Amino acid sequence: MSTSVLERIVASGIVPVIKIDSPEKVLGLGRALQAGGLAVAEITFRTDSAAASIQRMAAELPETLVGAGTVINRSQAEQAVAAGASFIVSPGYTDEVVEYCQEQNVLVIPGINTPTGVQYGISRGIQLFKLFPAEISGGVRMLDALRGPFPQASFLPTGGINMDNVADYIRRPNVVAVGGSWMVPPDLVAIEDWDSITRLSQLAVAA
Ligand code: 3PG
Repeated sequence: MSTSVLERIVASGIVPVIKIDSPEKVLGLGRALQAGGLAVAEITFRTDSAAASIQRMAAELPETLVGAGTVINRSQAEQAVAAGASFIVSPGYTDEVVEYCQEQNVLVIPGINTPTGVQYGISRGIQLFKLFPAEISGGVRMLDALRGPFPQASFLPTGGINMDNVADYIRRPNVVAVGGSWMVPPDLVAIEDWDSITRLSQLAVAA
């Protein structure tokens, strides 16, 4: 399960972090991302449309790996897994989310931004973390600093990453992929400007 999910995240290199206001838009969005070279989508629980959007994308766009983001409690994790999410991302770390995903054998990527967070996660069987918010938590210098004490830990840095700094992040040996919303701005999703999202995705992949 998790290995192939992780392989698909690594192969993508970039995980678009999506805020969508209607499940009706999710297929157009997924196709726009695919056309731009991105076959992974993290749909966040920042709107009431999250679970229905995950369900629709998972069922109707099987070429895209769909996960859930901004999952902050067990109830949301349950909804995400029931909807067919292949991975779960949290901005922070709670045992209730991590343990539920481990019970369900679903890849979970909890958020941390301290050595304490990494050390705690390792003690609970986690080796892949979301570094969040990446830029204001030290960015690439933080990632380099964490390599010494935690060579077994890998990261999905997210938060403040964009076209200008994505290449610096992706070069880090402890980074499996980079997350961000810069290629899926909510205002473009809202007006269904799929061409612009495809162009931004192409630029992100090229970077
Ligand atoms: C997230 O939850 O991963 C972030 O809000 C994405 O950060 P960004 O909008 O700065 O890319």
